[in-house]
Amino acid sequence: MQTKAEVFSKRRENLINSLNENELVIVFANEEATGANRFLQNSHFYYFTGLNTPEAILIMGKANNKGFDEVFIQKNIPERIVWDGEKIWPEQVTKISGIDTVLFIDDFEKNTVFHLNAFKKIYFNCDLVGLNQPLNKALFFIKRAQERVPHLTFEDISNIIRPLREIKDETEIEAITESIRITWEGIKLIWQNARPGMMEYELEAMLHFEMQKKGCRNYGFVPIVAAGKNAATLHYVDNNTIIEDNQLVLLDVGASQNNYSADISRTFPVNGKFTDRQKEVYQEVLNIQKEIIAMVKPGVSMGDLNKRTRELMFASMTKLGLIKEESEIIKHYMHGIGHHLGLDVHDIGARDSVLKEGMVITVEPGIYIADEAIGIRIEDDVLVTADSHRVLSAFIPKEIDELERLLQDHRK
Ligand code: GLY
Ligand code: MN
Ligand code: MN
Repeated sequence: MQTKAEVFSKRRENLINSLNENELVIVFANEEATGANRFLQNSHFYYFTGLNTPEAILIMGKANNKGFDEVFIQKNIPERIVWDGEKIWPEQVTKISGIDTVLFIDDFEKNTVFHLNAFKKIYFNCDLVGLNQPLNKALFFIKRAQERVPHLTFEDISNIIRPLREIKDETEIEAITESIRITWEGIKLIWQNARPGMMEYELEAMLHFEMQKKGCRNYGFVPIVAAGKNAATLHYVDNNTIIEDNQLVLLDVGASQNNYSADISRTFPVNGKFTDRQKEVYQEVLNIQKEIIAMVKPGVSMGDLNKRTRELMFASMTKLGLIKEESEIIKHYMHGIGHHLGLDVHDIGARDSVLKEGMVITVEPGIYIADEAIGIRIEDDVLVTADSHRVLSAFIPKEIDELERLLQDHRK
């Protein structure tokens, strides 16, 4: 069993091995949180270090046919400790990340320009900002470096990091599974306690409560709790409408524990029983989802999954009396079948990837009928295995009878 530091060291080694001579990678951690926000780490930075440390900078490079890595962190200022608490110490950084060379940010600013001179190309990560907005720290650094070392070329890190991050190792699969388990605890509490007449945010509070109880402080994305026709608005996040009797509620939720996100959608009748029409539409979505999941294996592309979904959607929507032409599918299904999942809910990885062992994707078909106040999406998180797949969220019920039984058990 590898230690965590060994896992992070191996990831840096893999990246360094993919570099050419005289190439350098600079990975900026996220800046300190401001206002009411809690700090969340940059996913690339976390992937290589395991550090939830703001403002830090990781460099990895290859020169003289030798790889190296160094990390720069903020210094503890003794008189600030009583206000802000201690910042991470260099020994702790080494213990978590396996990086032996831990320096301070001030040295980065002072010395890096002399190192940079020896390199040809710099890969970097940073969030883009609008032309009318101030540069973030990463862009500000790049601008100054470009002025001082004009022979350097710069490239976004995505192309070299994608092949690594899109294949998940054991630790990552376990982390995603843990977030799914916590999410399920939240969904279960909602299914037990939701009643007609409640507000959508009361259900959101149940998920939040269950997450906090488990020490899971962050969502992977803003939760969607959408009753009736609200569920036909794909990015509905207001969660502030009363839930009427006989309505379906769409939950699209994901806890993020240890920086890895779950992404689960389930749709359920608030009073415990589907109407005939709701059942009919739900069963079509479920059948499509199962058929697409069954296709998941190495060599199949996300494009194949999307194409098959459209064929199945056309048949289902015709049967449900919703459309006559294939071109009308978009009226009731307007998103893709899924995406990569990992540190980010929409994780790095192409939407048209050819699947490989170790990828984790979502499979999330939906049918949305605003006129009938119906929006149904069923979403599971699926690991691609050597010759097939494993549904990491398979323990979260989705069959109609199972769901109704579970809901009604708590409504007696
Ligand atoms: N929850 C975001 C998504 O399903 O893609
Ligand atoms: Mn989702
Ligand atoms: Mn999703």
